[in-house]
Amino acid sequence: GKGEHRHFMLKEIFEQPQVVGDTLNTMLNPASRTITLMDLPFDLGSVNRVTIVACGTSYYAGLVAKYWIERLAKVAVEVDIASEFRYRQPVVAKGDLAIFISQSGETADTLAALRWCLDRGMNTIALVNVAESTIARTAHAALLTQAGPEIGVASTKAFTCQLTVLACVAIALGRANGRLPATEEARLSQALAEVPACISEILRADDGIRRVAEDIAQARDVLYLGRGTGYPIALEGALKLKEISYIHAEGYASGELKHGPIALIDDHVPVIVVCPSDELYDKTASNVQEVIARGARVVFLSDKEGQARLVNKPLAAFTLPSVDPFVAPILYAVPVQLLAYHVAVAKGTDVDQPRNLAKSVTVE
Ligand code: F6R
Repeated sequence: GKGEHRHFMLKEIFEQPQVVGDTLNTMLNPASRTITLMDLPFDLGSVNRVTIVACGTSYYAGLVAKYWIERLAKVAVEVDIASEFRYRQPVVAKGDLAIFISQSGETADTLAALRWCLDRGMNTIALVNVAESTIARTAHAALLTQAGPEIGVASTKAFTCQLTVLACVAIALGRANGRLPATEEARLSQALAEVPACISEILRADDGIRRVAEDIAQARDVLYLGRGTGYPIALEGALKLKEISYIHAEGYASGELKHGPIALIDDHVPVIVVCPSDELYDKTASNVQEVIARGARVVFLSDKEGQARLVNKPLAAFTLPSVDPFVAPILYAVPVQLLAYHVAVAKGTDVDQPRNLAKSVTVE
């Protein structure tokens, strides 16, 4: 049941400290600060290209993984939407690694893409939440998220658990091919180990998000901005808002603002900004100054340092824990989920059963 929570979605958002912790426990040794994936039937150390295929929110998890794997393991990563990948005649090589991300493990397009890759002799890994699902059984190996059953149609805890596994995959690849030093593995593992407590801290500040949601609920369009791993989180935030509140929302890479979307900015379009203090902070903050100067009502998601450094004051500031930028996307996923949830509640939509959507998309 929903327990003390009004909706499954809220219950599942609040389960994240537990289920992300459970997922980490399957891979992270906190004493040695090392990552161990299950035994795979192929050598991670010799992988020189990774293809990630998924749909929807699971695809956005794949986009985050691209930044992580390229940075930590120096291996080229391509990420594609399953319905595009399966029909566009992609160039793949026998022995390349393909990862299929799916909460349900039953998504028709993702399964078809997996079968296509198997036919071409690729090494395949399923990243799924349902161990006995078709995608899990079809791939050479399955990595499992420990999210437990996800009932709300909008994916929340499955996403942060997918990110958790993918962060570990990036570390494991980097260790296996010798590009990631052991000291870095230890530092990143430590940052991952602290994620569940950081998510709890974010959830305790839920009221701050609820207050700004009343305002966002009046909007017709909402823009989400981020850079680096914050960009896929902006995309995910926009998807969450669209699907449960029916407000039109778009996610953009902050650097793209000048190439078109800035034309939309006025005081009717709220702009939600994902902006942890990382090496790209100054660039995103400068985009934020530009939109504030044009009258935009900005909701600024950053840590204490990032909030203090912002010159023009936003409409609302939501402060997250200060963490290693590596784990920031896992944390910043949470306030965008909460924002979508509270906006939907303010609008009175059916949060757990949004119109036209099915939990498991088993036909294309
Ligand atoms: C969004 C959402 C969908 C799913 C997509 C893929 O909240 O839930 O976008 O992420 O349908 O589903 P799975 O991960 O089961 O393959």
